[in-house]
Amino acid sequence: MTEPSSPDSPSTPASGSLDRKMEAWSARFSEPMSELVKRYTASIDFDKRLWQADIRGSLAHAAMLAMEGIINPHDFAAIEKGMNQIRAEIESGKFEWKLELEDVHLNIEARLTALIGDAGKRLHTGRSRNDQVATDVRLWLRGEIDLIVELLVDLQKALLTLAEQNADVIMPGFTHLQVAQPVSFGHHMLAYVEMFSRDAERMVDVRKRVNRLPLGAAALAGTSFPIDRQLVAQMLGFDELCQNSLDAVSDRDFAIEFTAAASLLMVHVSRLSEELVLWMSQSFGFIDIADRYCTGSSIMPQKKNPDVPELARGKTGRVVGHLMSLITLMKGQPLAYNKDNQEDKEPLFDTVDTLKDTLRIFAEMMGGITVKPEAMRLAALKGYATATDLADYLVKKGMAFRDAHEAVAHAVRICQDRGIDLADLSIDELKKFSPLVGNEVKEVLTLEGSVAARKHVGGTAPEGVRTQIIRHQKRLNTD
Ligand code: ARG
Repeated sequence: MTEPSSPDSPSTPASGSLDRKMEAWSARFSEPMSELVKRYTASIDFDKRLWQADIRGSLAHAAMLAMEGIINPHDFAAIEKGMNQIRAEIESGKFEWKLELEDVHLNIEARLTALIGDAGKRLHTGRSRNDQVATDVRLWLRGEIDLIVELLVDLQKALLTLAEQNADVIMPGFTHLQVAQPVSFGHHMLAYVEMFSRDAERMVDVRKRVNRLPLGAAALAGTSFPIDRQLVAQMLGFDELCQNSLDAVSDRDFAIEFTAAASLLMVHVSRLSEELVLWMSQSFGFIDIADRYCTGSSIMPQKKNPDVPELARGKTGRVVGHLMSLITLMKGQPLAYNKDNQEDKEPLFDTVDTLKDTLRIFAEMMGGITVKPEAMRLAALKGYATATDLADYLVKKGMAFRDAHEAVAHAVRICQDRGIDLADLSIDELKKFSPLVGNEVKEVLTLEGSVAARKHVGGTAPEGVRTQIIRHQKRLNTD
């Protein structure tokens, strides 16, 4: 389009090295790029993390060019050798990243040409930075998704261990943060296993759409060289080809989708965090979090604060913010590539970093939680948590549910006035609320009786919790 001397153009003169890019541009423009604009447009500070994907993608492209006879085998051999050296230089920290070379792609290509001469200049045949960057990001993200899925497995396993150890521990279950019905603490942990297992499913699903090859789309319209895209896809492990060149270079929906899945995952982490913070407060006292995940206060000597869950809850906002950035980044862009897309990287990178750190810490931290069954039990006893069980009992004796609900509500009110629990009422007192009450009613009013009765699939009975744990363990070990 308007950048005839840009290295993206296949017509770059063979004599113009990338190191002299700025000079080439000065020939096209009447003044050099300002230092501020140079800094403003450069992405090297953050996109250098794509270097492995960039080298890998370039090597597959070069191999294909050689196989198709577009470059000769000697050039390919030189490119391979040069890239190996560049890899070693980057790994040992000796590679000199240059801001004036803008991004990771131009930095690596310029170094290649400096090392091997003309063969390096042929690498960009039939390719543009537009399809190159889209390929790099997809390759990189694919690997990160695989790591995230593994970390999700670790976290689920930690939660399963906690669930297994506490299948019989009874805590109050809440609705509206009011004590509702007793549940097994193991059951509560399994709720998060369900959430994180769906998060893993979503990641695996997103990966399918990430794993499509844009390379070959060139700048936007494809290339006149006889390229074999399928071959490149095979070499790089892509499942499919992007089927439209304009779409291939311009859309970042795969990154948006990933960040959406990441946001949901963080929302789940955040809900768990909120509970951990509440449970560790003196008012609840349900758990303790190991000291290594907490901090003290500089002024209040007695304090031990659950910083990790609080920060994770805070970082959820950051990831959801990245989703907003990416989705807004896309909305005004006409086809095909626009420089706007360079802004996709920092939100995406930070999302991945935040997710990986959070998952790692949570997998560890959940193993360092001390459960306090007595406090949970007391809280469940205080809140008339078995009121529904009493109503259900009356229904089973023949009363209509709405009437039973009324009768028990009446009983709860009396108990509240007297400051006692339903279980503290004598059989005779209970009989006053309904003549259907029999001597076995006391069974129904115990916390154990209440949870044990909910033994259908998905219920909170410890027996069912154990069955679910086995199912999850099998799933995680065979995936
Ligand atoms: N650094 C650029 C990016 O991240 C690479 C693609 C640049 N393409 C271009 N035509 N200027 O999007």
